[in-house]
Amino acid sequence: MSERAQTTVLNATEAQIQSRIIEELKAEFDKEFAQTGKQKKMCITTFGCQMNAHDSEKLEGILEQIGYEKTDDENEADFVLYNTCTVRENANLKVYGRLGHLNKLKQNKPSLVIALCGCMMQEDTVIAKIKKSYRFVDIIFGTHNIYKLAELIKTRRESGRMVIDIWKEQKEIVEDLPSDRKYKFKACVNIMYGCNNFCSYCIVPYVRGRERSRKPEDIINEIKRLVEDGVVEITLLGQNVNSYGKNLQDSMSFANLLQEVEKVEGLERIRFMTSHPKDLSDDLIEVFKNSKKICSHIHLPFQSGSTRILNLMNRKYTKDDYLELVRKIKAARPDVTLTTDIIVGFPGETDEDFEHTLDVVKQVKYNSAYTFIYSKRTGTPAALMDDQVSDEIIKVRFNKLHDTIQEIGSNITDKEVGGTYKVLIEEVNEKDNSLVSGRLENNLVVHLKGTKDLIGKIINVKIVEAKGFYFFGELA
Ligand code: 5AD
Ligand code: SF4
Repeated sequence: MSERAQTTVLNATEAQIQSRIIEELKAEFDKEFAQTGKQKKMCITTFGCQMNAHDSEKLEGILEQIGYEKTDDENEADFVLYNTCTVRENANLKVYGRLGHLNKLKQNKPSLVIALCGCMMQEDTVIAKIKKSYRFVDIIFGTHNIYKLAELIKTRRESGRMVIDIWKEQKEIVEDLPSDRKYKFKACVNIMYGCNNFCSYCIVPYVRGRERSRKPEDIINEIKRLVEDGVVEITLLGQNVNSYGKNLQDSMSFANLLQEVEKVEGLERIRFMTSHPKDLSDDLIEVFKNSKKICSHIHLPFQSGSTRILNLMNRKYTKDDYLELVRKIKAARPDVTLTTDIIVGFPGETDEDFEHTLDVVKQVKYNSAYTFIYSKRTGTPAALMDDQVSDEIIKVRFNKLHDTIQEIGSNITDKEVGGTYKVLIEEVNEKDNSLVSGRLENNLVVHLKGTKDLIGKIINVKIVEAKGFYFFGELA
């Protein structure tokens, strides 16, 4: 049997094992429901990035199949799950803070099951701390085995003890898991897991493991199924989508994958994130240029405008490389919208380095940007660098950067007023239900008069007013 065929069989078996456990638990839950008349409820809180948000949809899918109903109120939940992030220290602190509250909840309701998963759980120090100081937690698992949630719940019920299952790496990619999508008409699809880049500040490669690409046929089949189910917009997810396919037996580039995805009939919009500048190839730009479905938006983190700092960050491109890449992208699709991630206060960042960051922002003219204050992550090379920048200096730089981005962003959006754009309507506006809200191809939100039957449709909208990072519009 070839290695590839063997993997398929393994996957099928693992998915089958889990679905059997889900059925067993469902039968137990149904019995308990018959006795108590009370439907068990789950509450999931997701910290961090889109990858985590997508993992949470899968976790929710499993819990729903077991028989849990969804609630947003932790106080009425029987199962509380935190899908954690550890990219910055702040995210960790938030989790510990909220665990204190959960402890009190559990004292009043001992049957409450508390589960923790995600990136933070891949760190040994975190597990040690939870084992020592947060004994009331029931289930802990990491990023590589989310598909086993049902099995972990079963083990917890049978053993009555804290269940910890953390894998250092993923053994196999398990396909065909249940998933509970937030929207009927748009969905995220993982194309790869992990990251090989080891940017010197970043903990992701340590907690998400090495790059693993899903097979193109698995990705395309998932997308076809989603489209049959009413999805018109797909976001392809990976920590570094541009290096998709390098580790596959029959290697395939991200540009080729996009061409395959484009062929799926009924699919109307394709998005992807995140792109590492060093791997964004000319082939990809060519596919982007000629595509009818790829949205004209690229999220292209540059992190710092200073070549010296980029080198210390191990980003493997210079300021000029980045600007040249942007020039090529804009030449291919002049309507493109760019967004980015920027870190302020990387160790040793001088005023001059920071000026280069401002310069890139001004030259590229991003529609918006995620700006982060550098956070020291133990175990990463940057944590050992001296010359940490003082909080006061960081604050000044951060505010200056923020103001510059705001000003440029709102100048760009002002220019869209009067134009007509295709908009995918996503929801009835929460604050004013005479309005619906949707997204332009460039990912910006527009509100307009409309009713819920427009949800999931792509319609032409004329922009009548720009409000910084969102618009008001009308049916065109
Ligand atoms: N400190 C601050 N920001 C970070 N990021 C990753 N690691 C750190 C860190 N240690 C940011 C990067 C990345 C985004 C997802 O998070 O900008 O692109
Ligand atoms: Fe972290 Fe760099 Fe990998 Fe992004 S590319 S996840 S910043 S190591």
